[in-house]
This record gives sequence, structure tokens and C-alpha cells, in this order.
Amino acid sequence: MIVQKYKDMLQGKSVIRQLSEFATQRGKEIGYENVFDYSLGNPSVPVPQAFTDTMIRMLQEKNPMELHGYSQSLGIPSVREKVAASLNERFGMHYTGNHIFMTTGAAGAIAHAVRCVAEPGDEVLTFAPYFPEYAPYINLTGAVLKVVPADTESFQINFEAFEQMLTDKVAAVLINTPNNPSGMVYSTQTIQEMARIMREKEEQYGHDIFLISDEPYREIVFAGVDAPYPSRFYDNTLSCYSFSKSLSLPGERIGYVAVNPACTDADIISVMCSQISRGTGHNCPPSIIQLAVSEVLDLTADLSVYETNMNILYKELMNLGFECVKPGGTFYIFPRALEEDAVAFSEKAKKYDLILVPSDSFGVKGYFRLAYCIDTEKVERSLEAFRKFVKAEY
Ligand SMILES: Cc1ncc(COP(=O)(O)O)c(C=O)c1O
Repeated sequence: MIVQKYKDMLQGKSVIRQLSEFATQRGKEIGYENVFDYSLGNPSVPVPQAFTDTMIRMLQEKNPMELHGYSQSLGIPSVREKVAASLNERFGMHYTGNHIFMTTGAAGAIAHAVRCVAEPGDEVLTFAPYFPEYAPYINLTGAVLKVVPADTESFQINFEAFEQMLTDKVAAVLINTPNNPSGMVYSTQTIQEMARIMREKEEQYGHDIFLISDEPYREIVFAGVDAPYPSRFYDNTLSCYSFSKSLSLPGERIGYVAVNPACTDADIISVMCSQISRGTGHNCPPSIIQLAVSEVLDLTADLSVYETNMNILYKELMNLGFECVKPGGTFYIFPRALEEDAVAFSEKAKKYDLILVPSDSFGVKGYFRLAYCIDTEKVERSLEAFRKFVKAEY
């Protein structure tokens, strides 16, 4: 028998994907260069040359059995050790290779982390605005995603709502900083306060509440912004990382879970992840990619274009009268729409070939997201379209 729950999901197709398909279609009519497609978060800068060089060198010199064979089920030991050493150096942590589990991107990391700490029926809290894929990531484990309403003043955390929703049923809290879609980076004060509340509730309820920290944008932080490493503030943390955005290689599907050495059962969580992989089928990310990223762990692609694009857009949006919290990182900006109905707003923008994602699927109404991982030249050309759109419609 066909499984109804997956059949039902066909009705809830991603709005972002639909807009991206619309942009591609429109591009066939007027030339894609004339469509200001701000829909998808697909990096727009090339992978660092050092990564390409490493791949070429490895293909020429290394044993093909090592490059193309199965990796160990937790990841290649030397890679896990290098990841641990890099995190220790950068964030003052005390990981060993045993605390690292290699995954297929952040999606794979979250899939494992949630299954380690939440039983079916448990609640996982996240904060609006949030990445819409959290709904399938969490709900398909059998756990239940609950969304804490946004703090729309600053897109930090609405602590009053958080404290109310952090009941005995909550097994984990899922955060994403720097944040997709708001572009905001949680301050040290925000993380400290969140950690304090979680510790208090752990004590009150007599059970662990894990922090799952989703960090694919960790390296995309703008000048002068402090981006604290959440695991430093809360022992029961599983950090979920992806190289997709920092190295511009989302198609290679590579990331990891880093288990805070001071968390409950720290020594076995990675091993538990490898058991989870047996069931999900997402085991052993490609060996060659594990080895290649381990050679460039502290490098990034040239990410500077994102800050340039953000500044251009932020300035123009403010000039046009939009309300907007200035992003501290990522390649997203999240202004308030010029009417209450963000879906209607985004629909009108299409007439000007502006592809803007309405905020409803991010758990907040009345905003829209621009993914400005596109060429700066195109961002600049889009400003005239914004001016025409605002003047004619509002
Ligand atoms: C907030 C957030 N989490 C997780 C992911 C998934 O990352 P990956 O493609 O590396 O699995 C994304 C991808 O865009 C994201 O924006």
C-alpha cells in the first residue's frame, strides 16, 4: 500500500522551489539575466581553487580504493580528527575525533542529531522565522516541531514565549544562527539567556533538553558582527555543520555533527549516529569528499560578494521605505512587506520580474526573503525594478 503521509506531502510543495521554477520558466521567455531571481539559497561564488587542486592531486596520486571505497560508518578517522582539531583551535573546545560524525550536509546532520535525542512524540522547539525544511526534518522522525513566535523587533529570541513553550515535553531546541531567512546572528547575550533558561528547565523537569545548533552559515558573518559558537555556552549541544555554503559545494553533500564532549553520553552519541544511518540509509558520505574537505577545513570560498550585495540592497530598501533589520551574516535579507499579505506582495512583484519569497512558510506573516547569492551586477540592475514596483503598486 502507498504510504499516505508521503502522498499528503505532495500537496505541500516548497514555495521556494515553486518560485524558482517560475523564475526559470520566465527566464526562457525574456532571458534569465532579466529575471531578478532572489528565490534560492544556492551559493553564487566558486569553490576555492585549493579544493579543486586537492581533488585533482588526490585523483592523480592516491590509492583509488581509498578514494572510492566505503568510508568507516562514522566517517574517516583522520578526517574526524582534523575537524575536531580545527574546531578546538577556533572555538576553544575539547573535541576529539570521537565526537565528530560525518554527514551528508546539514540536512544529514540534523536528521541524525534529532533521532539521537528526541523520541517519537517528543517536542522539538525552534524559533520563527525558521528554515521551512525543519518541518519535514523533524516531523518525519516522529517528533513534533513547535515554533516559538518571532521577536520581530530584532529577530533574536522571544524569551517570554520561549519560556512558556519549553514544557516537560520538549526534548530539544533547534536554533539556526546566522539565520536563514532573517540573516540575523544571535548575540552572546541571547545565547547565554537561552542556555540559562534551558538549564533551569532541565533541573526542574529532571531530564536533558538538548540544543541542536544548525550552522551552515557560520562562516558568512559580516564586518564587526560577533558570532558566538553556541556549544561553548551549553554542554548538551549537538552542532550541525555543512560545508555547502562556506566552500560553495552544496551538491557534494558534506557536513558533520560535533558532539560537545561535556554533554550527556558524549562518548556514544557519534556511535549512535552510525546506527541511525543504518536505518535512514544515509551512511558513509563519499570518501573522496571527506578527504578533500579535510585538507581545506579553515578555508572558505570568497564570500565577500554577499556582504557587498547585502549593503546595496539594504540601502535601497531603506530608501524605498521598507522596514528591515540589517543582517549580520548569511546571504538573506528579510524586510517587512508593504502590505499585510506577503503572498499578494510577492505575486505583484512578479510583474516586475522580481522573485521574492513570502514569509508565511518561514513561520512569520507579512515579510519576504531575498536570497542575494547572485551577481552584484544583477543586484544593481534589480534596484530599478524595485523602484518601479514600489512606485506603481504602493
Ligand atoms: C538553515 C539551513 N539549515 C540546513 C540547510 C541544509 O544544508 P545542506 O544543504 O548542507 O544539507 C540549509 C540549506 O539551505 C539551511 O539554509
